[in-house]
Amino acid sequence: MPKVYFEKEDRTIQVEPGENLREAAIRNKFSVYAHVQKILNCRGRALCAACTVKVVAGNVAPRNDAEAKRLAKKPADFRLACQIAVEDDLVIATHPSKQSRAPSKTI
Ligand code: FES
Repeated sequence: MPKVYFEKEDRTIQVEPGENLREAAIRNKFSVYAHVQKILNCRGRALCAACTVKVVAGNVAPRNDAEAKRLAKKPADFRLACQIAVEDDLVIATHPSKQSRAPSKTI
């Protein structure tokens, strides 16, 4: 069973193989959203980018078309939590900023 470590919050959650990252976070009572976006978000439809996270370590499938469109101007390791199927242990940074553009590592 993959584990996802949210480095800023120092929290690890267990994820079912293939489970959606946003849904796994919700199931574990963890929010990938900041501030008012906890309420004002598209509920996983890849429309708002409020769930943007940085994949610090671990392997994920390439961006799908919706992510590619929504994150076109963001670094390649920025992803939409609502579009990631977790198949590997991951290290995730929530609410990534422009300062956190270091390339992804593998674990
Ligand atoms: S929840 Fe809106 S893009 Fe992921």
